[in-house]
Amino acid sequence: MKISKLSPGDFEKASAFWTSTRGMMGQMGTDSEQALATFLKRNPGLSFKVVDNDEIVGTILCGHDGRRGYLHHLAVAEQYLGQGLGKVLTDRSIEELRRLGIAKCHLFVDSRNSEGQQFWKSIHWNEQNDIRIFSHDIEYPSD
Ligand SMILES: CC(C)(COP(=O)(O)OP(=O)(O)OC[C@H]1O[C@@H](n2cnc3c(N)ncnc32)[C@H](O)[C@@H]1OP(=O)(O)O)[C@@H](O)C(=O)NCCC(=O)NCCS
Repeated sequence: MKISKLSPGDFEKASAFWTSTRGMMGQMGTDSEQALATFLKRNPGLSFKVVDNDEIVGTILCGHDGRRGYLHHLAVAEQYLGQGLGKVLTDRSIEELRRLGIAKCHLFVDSRNSEGQQFWKSIHWNEQNDIRIFSHDIEYPSD
């Protein structure tokens, strides 16, 4: 088992892993090969994968806007749960944010994902009860 940086070339395996993982909030539009490549180019060296027997068994995506960090797609394969991989992946991304001088990191969890919420509570992340997320889909004219 090895932890290393996630790269655009990992898209196919990572995408298959995310599709098969419960609790992921990713939508296919935002998980395209191009979107991942753009994300990793804008946020070099912050995202990681765990590989075992040539298969991806854990991932984390991490980005920042110069002020705050954001985590996405933290996931660990079922057979590898409870071994500390989720925490290790989180720590790796936070360490990279620290190197960049980012002082705070946020993430979004589906309110129905109690497993994910239990994890963040266990590793002492603060739940923000006074914030609601508002989103807007930006429309593009079709040719
Ligand atoms: C959330 C997830 C990444 C945790 O991965 P993991 O490798 O099993 O977590 P770890 O082994 O690093 O656990 C770290 C701590 O969280 C606790 N924890 C993990 N999952 C838990 C759960 N379902 N319920 C309660 N505590 C949990 C562990 O007991 C451990 O606590 P400890 O340090 O006091 O022993 C994994 O369950 C997963 O992939 N879930 C599906 C995807 C998902 O929901 N991702 C989060 C989206 S925001």
